[in-house]
Amino acid sequence: MKTIAVVSAVGGAGRTTITAELASLLRWHGHAPLAIECDPRGLLGFHFGLREPVRQGLSNTADWAAHGQRSDDGVLFVPWGEPGTRATRAEIAMRLHADPHWLRGLLRHVDLSGDAVALIDSAPWPSPFAEQALAAADLALVLLPSLPQSCATLAPLRQALDDGGMARAYVVTRLQPGRQLHTDVSVLLRATLGNALLPYEIHEDAGVPEALARGECFCRSTPHSQTAHDLQGLASWVSGWLLNGARAGDGQAGAVRREGTP
Ligand SMILES: Nc1ncnc2c1ncn2[C@@H]1O[C@H](COP(=O)(O)OP(=O)(O)OP(=O)(O)O)[C@@H](O)[C@H]1O
Ligand SMILES: [Mg+2]
Repeated sequence: MKTIAVVSAVGGAGRTTITAELASLLRWHGHAPLAIECDPRGLLGFHFGLREPVRQGLSNTADWAAHGQRSDDGVLFVPWGEPGTRATRAEIAMRLHADPHWLRGLLRHVDLSGDAVALIDSAPWPSPFAEQALAAADLALVLLPSLPQSCATLAPLRQALDDGGMARAYVVTRLQPGRQLHTDVSVLLRATLGNALLPYEIHEDAGVPEALARGECFCRSTPHSQTAHDLQGLASWVSGWLLNGARAGDGQAGAVRREGTP
């Protein structure tokens, strides 16, 4: 099983949305996705159609795998579980601090086929939740909303990924091409990151939060929108990485390219 951490240093970048949409799309590509929530706010389940917060999950039960649920699209997902009391939150914080590979250890016991891919949604980096996701991952999918905050936070995040020897791919999200600032940020990021920035820019679309409000998969409810097209392109790239790049390394179809190459 390969593991992808969906991370960003900016809140509201679209991590939870993209984790859920990618999981559904990868299933349509024939992969066996498992969406994991490493964020105590417990929002992932709502993206898969749940109407209530989930009480038990990854953080608060030993048999967490038994609390996995299946979406209407057939995606298996494991919610974090309720945030709990102040004492339990402190206990979990200590566990994450004491064992930086806690999540990696849990995923090692997941008994899924070789085609399986775990997508981890985490709280913004830096945080113990994002560190756990990165420590468990084969690939960091770094989301960069087309805002100045993405440029301001990029250097320390890149340094952390370098320090961890992480394979990574970057994606611009929430792009509004009609706004000069958004296109300027997008151009600056491409000049900085080169081919490590994937060509699929995820456009802003008011239908994304509307689909969430209805508890629907956005790509299924609005399949012909630009943003659904963007997400499908991203899913195709991830599928290619899973089939070729993850095994073959740089230079192959779907492989992670070097940063800074034009
Ligand atoms: N491409 C998009 N177009 C429009 N709205 C979007 C898009 N992507 C995400 N959103 C909306 O922005 C909000 C934040 O998205 P999401 O929760 O996926 O981001 P996040 O990075 O997980 O945020 P957080 O830091 O809160 O965990 C949600 O209301 C979501 O519906
Ligand atoms: Mg989120």
